Parts: sequence; structure tokens; C-alpha cells
Amino acid sequence: MSSKYDALVAREKKVLCQTYGRYPLAIEKAQGARMTDLDGREYIDLLAGIAVANLGHSHPELLEVMAAQAKELLHVSNLFYQPRQVELAELLLATCACDRVFFCNSGAEANEAAIKLARRYMRTVRNKDAGEIITLSGSFHGRTLATLTATGQAGRIKEGFEPLPQGFSTVPFGDIEALRAAVTPKTAAVLMEMVQGEGGVLPLPEAYVKEAAEICREAGCLFMVDEVQTGMCRTGKFWAHQHYGVQPDVFTTSKALANGLPMGAMLAKEHVANGFVPGSHATTFGGGGVVSAVAAKVVEIMQRDDIAGRARDLGALALDAFKKVQANHPERISGVRGLGLMIGIVLSGPGENIHAALRERGFVCNLAHGTVLRLLPPLTIAAEDLLAFAAALDDILATDKP
Ligand SMILES: Cc1ncc(COP(=O)(O)O)c(C=O)c1O
Repeated sequence: MSSKYDALVAREKKVLCQTYGRYPLAIEKAQGARMTDLDGREYIDLLAGIAVANLGHSHPELLEVMAAQAKELLHVSNLFYQPRQVELAELLLATCACDRVFFCNSGAEANEAAIKLARRYMRTVRNKDAGEIITLSGSFHGRTLATLTATGQAGRIKEGFEPLPQGFSTVPFGDIEALRAAVTPKTAAVLMEMVQGEGGVLPLPEAYVKEAAEICREAGCLFMVDEVQTGMCRTGKFWAHQHYGVQPDVFTTSKALANGLPMGAMLAKEHVANGFVPGSHATTFGGGGVVSAVAAKVVEIMQRDDIAGRARDLGALALDAFKKVQANHPERISGVRGLGLMIGIVLSGPGENIHAALRERGFVCNLAHGTVLRLLPPLTIAAEDLLAFAAALDDILATDKP
């Protein structure tokens, strides 16, 4: 590590809350699918700011919209009608079967809004005392008190934050009978990711999702989908739930919505959205001029350039390349899974050394749960970059024995 890097790390430790286990890398610049560190070294970015820069870093058309909109209107608050916010809502609703949008600033806030809406809808629209939220084991829904409680993982996410909010329960991932048994007249909603991201890139089986939606419909509770990570073309369709032929009553999105500016959204069917009235939920920044204008351009580019189709095709190419690497090293890779450009390479043992060796060769990806190489590249990445990653992994596994 360079002295520049060491000096920055030392300063960071003095001034920031130590909440992150960071990679030993300080990034100065990012463009397209490339990141450059403090010392000018370039990396192929297979993480995209954790599924955020779906159109690549610093997309020129987005920078143009950002600058132009900043000169017109940056922020006035939701006390006012704002044209860019309405335009974005119209564009988003045209991509799905929902009817209303609530804009916020992050994935956790979007899920928080969904949880609040589910409860309030049951009380005020349905006159039903149902406030329970069911989620799946291994899920991740955010770090606010409600969303960390909804998260189906133990450990540091929850430890020390008690008392946690009431009314949440978790059922085993993919077990339809467990879900059926858990849904009661007190259930307000079932919330799930179509592909668990933080959980290690785990797609839900189609039959499970269809049946889960049906269980919710029969029980009269809401079927809600967390598309914070899977949305915005990541999985090869605009929304991951569209692979499954289901229509959620509510779904949430965030990460790639404004391609790097903080933004979240909750989308709901009209009758459900009626659970909110003026004063029942709000945020100062949600849907401001600049984020809305940029997100509208993101949606436009995604549709114009068929980014979902690109994610699907590149995902198939990458999956194929990674499966070949697995075939070369069956004792080191136990599985390759994913949907579109959301891919997990499951290692047979601890992956820290492999992850570090990839970084040393100029490839940045994530390591989930210590054993899954998680890839969430920009959807605009070149096929050659994905193949170069596969070749580097193949070579590392051939040369660096555990
Ligand atoms: C599926 C899912 N939901 C919610 C969140 C929380 O989003 P944020 O970090 O923007 O609050 C994440 C973040 O990784 C996520 O992957």
C-alpha cells in the first residue's frame, strides 16, 4: 500500500464511525466500468457501487441532465408540486402494474414506507387489525430499526439494538409450507426479494414465488417485493418479479434508480396506496428535482438501449464462462448461480484469499458471507471484461492452492 493510502486510512479512523469493514482500496475516480485508486491504478469494477451504477459510473447523459436540472431547481420540498417528480412517477408506473409511487432516499426507507403502508392499509382501508410482517431467512431489507428487524439474518445487524420493533417474523427461505403455516389473519404483508442479494445471490424458485403470491391473495394480506437490488434491469427484466409472472401489491426499489444519486421509491397498487393520506408519511428530500430528473433519464436510457436485454445476454455469457471455470476447478467452486447480471460464484471454502488475489489483478467484486464471490457489474460493462474476470479467476484457482 502507498503512503498516500496509509495516510488516508489513518485520517479516516480518527474521524469516521467505524461501521464499515472496507476493502484495502481508496477510490479517487470511476468512469463506466473502471475505477481508479489514489495511486492511479485502474480496476475493472464488477460491483458498480453495490448494484447502483447500472448504466456505468458518470454516464455522460446523466451528468448533463444533473447539471442542467441543478441550475433550474435543486430542492424545494414536498410542500410543492414538482414537474420532474411527476414525470418520473409516470415513467416508472409505465414499467409495471402498480399505480402510485412514494419517493424517498434509500432502500431502507423504501422498505420502511412499504411496512408502514401495509400496516396502515390494513387498519384504515380494510378495517382489520393486522400488523404482522413476514420475511424470509437470509433476507436483507435495510438498517433502520424496522427494516433490520425484518431482515432474516442474525448477528451484528441486530445485536445490541434491542428492543426491536414488534410484529415481525421470519420463515425459512423457499419453504412454501412454512410460509402457508405462518400467514394468519394478523398478517399485514409478506415481504421478499426475488433474488436474495446480501444473502449470497439466491434466486427464489418460480413455483415458490407464484404460490407465495397466491397464499397472500387467499389470506387477504399483501404480497410485497423488495427490488432494491434486483430492480432497474439488473436481472434481465426491468423488475425481477416480472420473471415470475406475479404482480406484487407493493414493491420497493432504490440503488440503481438514480444511478448513483441517493434515491428510493415504493410503488403500490391504488387501493393499497390509499392507506396513506396527507400527513401519514413524508420525507424532506424524497423526489427532489435533481434526483428525479436523473432517474427519469435513467429509465429513458434503459428502455432506449434495451439495458434489460443486455443484462440478460451478458448474464448468460458470464454464467457460461463461470461454469467453465467451475468445471476446471470442481473442488474449489461448488456452484454458480444468478439471474441476469446478478451472479454468485459459490466457493467451497473461505474466499478471502481469492477475493484479494482478484483485486491484486485489477478486478473488484464483493465477497458475501466469506464464500460467495458476488458480481453486480454495470449493465453496460463490455463482455471482454467479464471474460477477463473469468480467465483471472481460472488462473488464480490453478496457481494459488488453498
Ligand atoms: C434487497 C435490499 N433491500 C434493502 C437494502 C437497503 O438499502 P439501503 O442501503 O439503500 O438502505 C439493500 C441494500 O443492500 C438491499 O440489497
